[in-house]
Amino acid sequence: MSIALRDVDLSSHDEFVDGVPYEYFALLRREDPVHWVDESEGPGFWSITKHAHINEVHRDWRTFSSERGGTSLEDIEPENIEPRKSMIDMDPPRHNQLRAIVNKRFTPRAVAVYEEYIRDLIRRILDDALPMGEFDFVREVAAELPMRVFAEILGAPLDDRRYIVELGDRLLGASDPEYQDAEELKRNRHLPFSSPVSLEMFEYGRKLASSRKADPREDIVTALIQAEIDGVPLTQREYDVYFLLLATAGNETTRHTITHGLLALIENPEQLERLRRDPSLYAPAADEILRWATPVHHFRRTATCDVEFHGKQIKENDKIATWLVSGNRDEEVFESPDVFDVGRTPNPQQSFGPGGPHFCTGAHLARLETRVAFEELIPRLRHVELAGPVERLRSNFFNGIKRMPVRVEPA
Ligand code: HEM
Repeated sequence: MSIALRDVDLSSHDEFVDGVPYEYFALLRREDPVHWVDESEGPGFWSITKHAHINEVHRDWRTFSSERGGTSLEDIEPENIEPRKSMIDMDPPRHNQLRAIVNKRFTPRAVAVYEEYIRDLIRRILDDALPMGEFDFVREVAAELPMRVFAEILGAPLDDRRYIVELGDRLLGASDPEYQDAEELKRNRHLPFSSPVSLEMFEYGRKLASSRKADPREDIVTALIQAEIDGVPLTQREYDVYFLLLATAGNETTRHTITHGLLALIENPEQLERLRRDPSLYAPAADEILRWATPVHHFRRTATCDVEFHGKQIKENDKIATWLVSGNRDEEVFESPDVFDVGRTPNPQQSFGPGGPHFCTGAHLARLETRVAFEELIPRLRHVELAGPVERLRSNFFNGIKRMPVRVEPA
């Protein structure tokens, strides 16, 4: 069935419930790669769908700002932007100063020290899950790993991990009715994600901060409370939103990556076989899983001036959505983009962003977790299949899977 440019409303979460409208993105890349989308409640936005154009937008932060209007398509009133914004919603130079506080803790060398810890963790998670035979892969495996790794890096006690993940679900699933109430969202627009759950996360972060003040350690919370920019420590609000950003940024994204990865291997059993036969493929497979999963569909920027962009006149203050999910299937960059190929190299996937000042801080950590998770999981499975429907998150922002029942025969 052919699809027309007016057929899909990218501003609607409902368009993503049954799956990503890949065909529609292919049409946009072909016919209107810088495409205007009307919104029923909002001024509308430009949709950027080509890999190269997404690259240009994210690197040119002077023209396409993260600070003006933030990085979500939601229209936040000017008075509400300030209290909720973390570094992801800022431009240089302030952004770079804040980012520098944690950056060196996430280099490939810095995160490599976690490899054995992650391997040991996933083994224990699988020891608990696999004997069940039939279970929800999201709850028992995919959600467990990033949450526990995060707890370790941040210095949060392990006993708190369920609490943190439940807070994260309630915060980030805001567009899914299972997790949020629309009226409540309207009342809380001065809070991150327009959600009162942010306050619970702030409170938890403050509790950790006071315990680290008394007992400093080699963890991120200690780094945040000791940080100074031009001799001035972070304000309470800066600390709160920084903590919340770190607590949420790596959790759901890595969880959805691992879930989509297993789903892709179930749906492409010949690729699973390739991994079994050739363990050197786990490294490229992690990037292919990331490309395939694209856990964050889009990000937003706002034009700081009138500008012509690939034949379109973008006006100052126009919203721009960069659809990473489309860049990851761009046929000008990827050969057979709709084929899941665990050996794909090179693989310039854009799931962590295409580069530029906001390139994902946790990219090396997330890639490591993904590789190690599959290195441990696959050899322990004789057989794996779906045991029920895969339930997706209703969101045009997250490519989330809420539940994925699987049946396994351990090897
Ligand atoms: C598969 C997992 C992950 C995906 C797909 C992902 C994706 C992204 C994306 C798309 C961005 C914005 C990039 C841009 O605007 O150009 C971002 C930013 C960020 N990510 Fe990740 N992320 C993941 C895991 C993590 C982890 C494990 C952490 C660990 C703390 C993390 C921390 C951050 C932070 C702090 C930012 C903001 C960076 C800035 O504004 O400078 N992410 N991530």
